[in-house]
Amino acid sequence: MPDPLLKVRNISKRFGERYAVRSVSFEVSRGEVFGLLGPNGAGKTTLLSVIAGIIAPDEGEVALDGLNPSSPEARSMIGYSPQEPVVYEDLTGFENLMFYAGLHGLTGSEARRRCRELLELMGLSDYANRLVRTYSGGMKKKLSFAAALIGDPELLILDEPTTGMDPGARRDVWRLITGKGDRAVILATHYMEEADALSNRVAIMHEGEIVAEGSPEELKRKYGPRAVISVKLLEHRDEVLELLRPLASEGRIARGDGEVRVHVEDPDEAAPGIVSKLLERGYKLESLRIVRPTLEDVFLRLTGRRLSGE
Ligand SMILES: Nc1ncnc2c1ncn2[C@@H]1O[C@H](COP(=O)(O)OP(=O)(O)OP(=O)(O)O)[C@@H](O)[C@H]1O
Ligand SMILES: [Mg+2]
Repeated sequence: MPDPLLKVRNISKRFGERYAVRSVSFEVSRGEVFGLLGPNGAGKTTLLSVIAGIIAPDEGEVALDGLNPSSPEARSMIGYSPQEPVVYEDLTGFENLMFYAGLHGLTGSEARRRCRELLELMGLSDYANRLVRTYSGGMKKKLSFAAALIGDPELLILDEPTTGMDPGARRDVWRLITGKGDRAVILATHYMEEADALSNRVAIMHEGEIVAEGSPEELKRKYGPRAVISVKLLEHRDEVLELLRPLASEGRIARGDGEVRVHVEDPDEAAPGIVSKLLERGYKLESLRIVRPTLEDVFLRLTGRRLSGE
C-alpha cells in the first residue's frame, strides 16, 4: 500500500471554550473519496478549513504528502470548494476562473483553454462573459466548484459542493468527482445518496468528533437496521407467518398493511428461499419488495437526527 496522501492526526479546534473539532484523525489515499456526514454545527466546515490550511488547529497536525497544508507547495496541490462560494462579483465567470488559474501558475492560452473547458463542463459557457453578480446562487456554486478543479489538484476538498444545484448540475459534479482516478477527495455533504454513491469511506461527525467510520456498506451493516423483505400475496392465510418464521432473522416477522414483513440479515441470500417456500405451498405473489438499510438510518442512529439535505 502506498503512503496515504493526506494524514489528519488528532486535530482539535476551539472557538472560545467550545470545541468545534475534537481529536479527529483519519487518512485519505489517492483514488479515494472520503465522505463526511454530520448535522449542522458538527464541525465539518471547521475541519475542512484546517485541512485546506485556511485556519490553524489548536492541536494536532495535518500532513499532505508530508507537507503542512498552509505551505505554498501544499496549497498548489489543493483544490478547495468552500461551503459559501468564494467568487468575485465584479468579474465575469471567465475572469474568475482565470484569476484562480493564475494562483495555480497557469497562464496564457493553456489557462484560457482550461477555463473554457471547465465552464463548458459545468454548463456555464453561455454565461462566461457575464458579471458574476448577475449569476444565480446555483451558478455561483458551479463556478466555485470549477475554480477548485482549475489546478488539477491532487487533493480536492469539497464542502457541500452540490447544495443549491439542480439535479443535472449535481450529476455533472458527481461525474467530475469520480472522473479522475488518482485524486484524493474529501466530500462533506448532507445528501445521503451523494455520500453513498461517491464515497469509498464515510465518517459520521457529531459534536466535533468522528463517531463512526467505514465503507457505506460496513456502516449500514454495523449500525443500520436489518433489511426487510416485504411480500404481498394474492390471498393471505394466517399460516404464512409460521411458514416463513424460520427464515426470519431471530424469528422477526410481522403482518401489516396487507404485507408480510420478514426481517433478514442478507436479503439477497434470503429472498429465493422465501419465494420458493411460498410457491411450494401454492401461494401466488402479488409483489416482493426489499427494503435495505440506508446511510440515513446509520446517521439517525448515531446522531439522533435526520440528514437535512432532502
Ligand atoms: N468563526 C467561528 N467563531 C465561533 N464559532 C464558530 C466559528 N465557526 C464555527 N463555529 C462553531 O463551530 C461549530 C462547528 O461549525 P461548523 O461550521 O464547522 O459546522 P458544520 O458541520 O460545517 O455545519 P453545517 O452543516 O451547518 O455547515 C459550531 O458550533 C459553530 O457555531
Ligand atoms: Mg459546514
